[in-house]
Amino acid sequence: MSARKITVVGAGHVGEVCAQRLAEKELCQEVVLIDIVEGTPQGKGLDQWQSAPVEGFDTMVTGANDYGPAEGSDLFIVTAGIARKPGMSRDDLLRTNAGIVRSVSTEIARVAPDAVVIVVSNPLDVMAYVAKETTGFPRERVIGMAGVLDTARFRAFIAMELDVSVEDIQAMVLGGHGDTMVPLVSYTSVSGIPVSRLIPQDRLDAIIDRTRNGGAEIVKHLKTGSAYYAPSAAAVQMAESIVRNKRRILPAAAYLEGEYGQAGIYLGVPCKLGEGGLKEVIEVELTESESAALARSADHVRGVMANL
Ligand code: NAI
Ligand code: 2OP
Repeated sequence: MSARKITVVGAGHVGEVCAQRLAEKELCQEVVLIDIVEGTPQGKGLDQWQSAPVEGFDTMVTGANDYGPAEGSDLFIVTAGIARKPGMSRDDLLRTNAGIVRSVSTEIARVAPDAVVIVVSNPLDVMAYVAKETTGFPRERVIGMAGVLDTARFRAFIAMELDVSVEDIQAMVLGGHGDTMVPLVSYTSVSGIPVSRLIPQDRLDAIIDRTRNGGAEIVKHLKTGSAYYAPSAAAVQMAESIVRNKRRILPAAAYLEGEYGQAGIYLGVPCKLGEGGLKEVIEVELTESESAALARSADHVRGVMANL
């Protein structure tokens, strides 16, 4: 089971690795990479396609500066926009990226009115809102990527702490994609063993703190941009669940209509992703402090939205 065509908008760091991962996993017959910089998507697309005989995939990768080749795509991954540099928060990207995401969303609605859209551009929760408003698509077809990434960072740090396989760590990080994200310790386990029985609270607090600052830690190392290997892996995991109709439950930014006491905003919550996009927002019971933290995170997202 796979899609016919997936278009990745933005052929920068996140976009190019998304295209490569989609092709290597053969999640569709064709990947189209779009960017405004002349030659960049064409060159990267051709280079990736030339890796196909070595890697053994048949997914064609092409690049373009216009949306003609994207016509009829089943799915879009939107990575267009500027990334943060040291000293910048994700929210500093708001105005520039809102303009970019609006123009990209207009084109998506024009060439592929039935597509599902995964938004990656930051500030994530607000850019997903902009994409939903501009495309006019229902919430099922506009979903934001952040929770899988934040959860992957949390899982990676727990695996390092315990010196165990990452495969055995189950976790959920909810809330907005930023300092107010909410790692759910009560739903984090190692092969079914509650993490709090394996890691003392002070070490868990340090891991939660590192997870919250996971994006900034990479920016500090790279100096010229932000993370892209883990972000692209996360976006492609969501894409796979959708195009293969796997119905995985993954943390993702969904437009809430009363779930978790929130409405009218995008926020990271457990989502069932399958054919057609968002199949269900899963509501789980939260502790008092987790609920309060999620409400604070929602308030932060609303604050950023107010600056739009
Ligand atoms: P990048 O700067 O490497 O690439 C962005 C690309 O977008 C550039 O090639 C640029 O030419 C292109 N672009 C700009 N305007 C465009 C338009 N109107 N149409 C098509 N393409 C356009 O940045 P990178 O590292 O790939 O990050 C992309 C975005 O994703 C940033 O906003 C970043 O903050 C965000 N991000 C979000 C994550 C998340 O968890 N949601 C994780 C990582 C990055
Ligand atoms: C990250 O968390 C930049 O949002 C991006 O790495």
